[in-house]
Amino acid sequence: MAIARQAEAVVTSKEDAGSKITRHATLLSGQLQQLRTRMYPPTAEKSLRHFLTNEVSKLTSIPDSTLKLMSSEGRGPIPGRLENNHRVYTLAQINELREMFAAQKPGDALRFLPRRRGGEHLQVLAIANFKGGSAKTTTCVHLAHYLALQGYRVLALDLDPQASLSAMFGAQPEVDVGANETIYAALRYDDADRRPIRDIIRKTYFDGIDLIPSNLEVMEYEHETPRVLANKSSDGAIFFERLKLALAEVEQDYDIVILDTPPSLGFLTLSAIYAATSMIITVHPAMLDVASMSQFLLMMGDLISVLNENGAQLDQDFIRYLITRHDPNDAPQSQVVAMLRHLFGSDVLLPTAIESTAVEAAGLAKKSLYELEMGQIGRDTHKRAREAVDAVNEGVIRLINASWGRE
Ligand SMILES: Nc1ncnc2c1ncn2[C@@H]1O[C@H](COP(=O)(O)OP(=O)(O)O)[C@@H](O)[C@H]1O
Ligand SMILES: [Mg+2]
Repeated sequence: MAIARQAEAVVTSKEDAGSKITRHATLLSGQLQQLRTRMYPPTAEKSLRHFLTNEVSKLTSIPDSTLKLMSSEGRGPIPGRLENNHRVYTLAQINELREMFAAQKPGDALRFLPRRRGGEHLQVLAIANFKGGSAKTTTCVHLAHYLALQGYRVLALDLDPQASLSAMFGAQPEVDVGANETIYAALRYDDADRRPIRDIIRKTYFDGIDLIPSNLEVMEYEHETPRVLANKSSDGAIFFERLKLALAEVEQDYDIVILDTPPSLGFLTLSAIYAATSMIITVHPAMLDVASMSQFLLMMGDLISVLNENGAQLDQDFIRYLITRHDPNDAPQSQVVAMLRHLFGSDVLLPTAIESTAVEAAGLAKKSLYELEMGQIGRDTHKRAREAVDAVNEGVIRLINASWGRE
């Protein structure tokens, strides 16, 4: 406990408020840093687990027996073997299987490969609410992982300077993300340093998911935009259009873009809302959180009218509220949920993200429930949490499919 001793050493007999707070801050941040390093060492390389034949069969609707036959005849990707000789596939191999089957059975291709087809537009989904802790990032990660496991091509875009989404994908903001490597690089107003969005997109360890990471640098956009607006010093696109225009450059590469927004209604969040074709507002069902969301909605309504007055048309396929960190056995929470459903009707997603120690524990290890192997957390807890998250994600996919005119 070197840090504790160091902090103790600065204690004088009479400690004023300032030094006490500073001492506490030093103690706490040292302790947190140690915990963080233990849970997820800075040198950790993320990798995705392998999938057993029965999981592959569930994900792809290719029968178990077909997979085994293909593997013994040497057709298709060659699975690895566990010590007990069970076959295991990587997600990249699963996607190879999908492409094979879609090519073999063109009439049935959509069942194997759900990617969007001609005429189906890129879906840009913003997850928003200025209440921190409303599970925006957790929702983004689980949705991105779920979509990629189903075979969609996903771009995860971190707009939050706190960069928790980037960290979940193994891009630690202080270590792995350098200057001009965030979305700011593609949005900035100075022509000399601006970069094409394609250049800042990174592959991740999760096949099918690309990432634009974040760090504190993205705050520059909040500082620069008012300066540019005041001086009318940019002859490029106005602030709220810049993200949408940047995304249009890589439109062909993805089916779904997921925007994780900061807990504020600044220029970045507004740009996200303008670029979005759909929005999910996460809400924890507690009175304080709902009061804060009410403020958020009022401010957002005002800002959208300002955008409209400036000729910006928002064109969203759907806006839904998602109840997060939901404890169905908590009476006050149930009242809040009932109130929201009464007020907003079917705009509140029916499935809810249940509060679970499994989600929390996975989060500490920078993982989603989809990355945990059974047994890492109590089996029943994991299964219950997984079913709740699946239901939420399936609800979102249904909305996306409807926006594409499928079904
Ligand atoms: N369903 C859940 N059950 C338990 N903990 C959750 C759940 N969803 C989120 N959390 C935890 O709540 C905290 C805040 O979530 P996060 O997604 O970072 O919120 P935000 O991005 O809105 O600030 C995190 O520690 C996360 O692990
Ligand atoms: Mg977050």
